Amino acid sequence: MKVYNVAIDGPAGAGKSTVAKMAAAALGFIYVDTGAMYRALALYFIRHGIKAEETARIGEALPTLDVSIEYRDGEQVVLLDRENVNAFIRTQEVGQMASLISPLPAVRKKLLFLQRGLAERTSVIMDGRDIGTMVLPDADVKIYLTADAQVRAGRRLKELEAKGESCEREEILREIVARDEQDMSREVSPLRKAQDAVVVDASNLTAQEVADRIVSLVRERCEKCR
Ligand code: DC
Repeated sequence: MKVYNVAIDGPAGAGKSTVAKMAAAALGFIYVDTGAMYRALALYFIRHGIKAEETARIGEALPTLDVSIEYRDGEQVVLLDRENVNAFIRTQEVGQMASLISPLPAVRKKLLFLQRGLAERTSVIMDGRDIGTMVLPDADVKIYLTADAQVRAGRRLKELEAKGESCEREEILREIVARDEQDMSREVSPLRKAQDAVVVDASNLTAQEVADRIVSLVRERCEKCR
């Protein structure tokens, strides 16, 4: 049976995971959040006092680590050495560490294998930074989702407040801008729009509007999904 792959890339806080989840539910595809995989590895290094610049220690630890994905009640669960780490990976600290370790080729290689394996078996909507350019270059639909940095900071602030975490808007904005810079300027798999990606600017759109746009793009291109 033909599987369909949808790639969504874009900067931090553009709403990729929210809209990818909504579109995946509408299409009956599986949603794969690749950022969560980088975050799981970042969590391990933070817990073990390993800094991003300690590449030798990271290189030694990587082969001993097991990152996997399961779906429980339709939700992606990230397992780090079989522990469900979903509750620990959504902090700013872990996001920043994930961004710092993600340029390391050994880190990317480990996760690339896992990501491609998932997309070979099932129809997926996969989001990240290099999905359309590197992980799934032959994806049926590629979206580059972006939004103004101020808007992204405002949304992140709301998310954090909803979880009871207090944070300054200015600090979030600084972190978002720094993370964009890190993710776009790295040599290995930088965040950039794939040539054949459709750009969606979500600054003035609701999540539902963006998800609907993605669903209709997928339906235009995938016979089975009509
Ligand atoms: O999407 P996110 O904020 O959960 O991602 C955390 C970091 O992981 C991001 O700043 C860069 C890295 N990342 C990556 O390099 N490639 C991906 N496909 C996904 C995330």
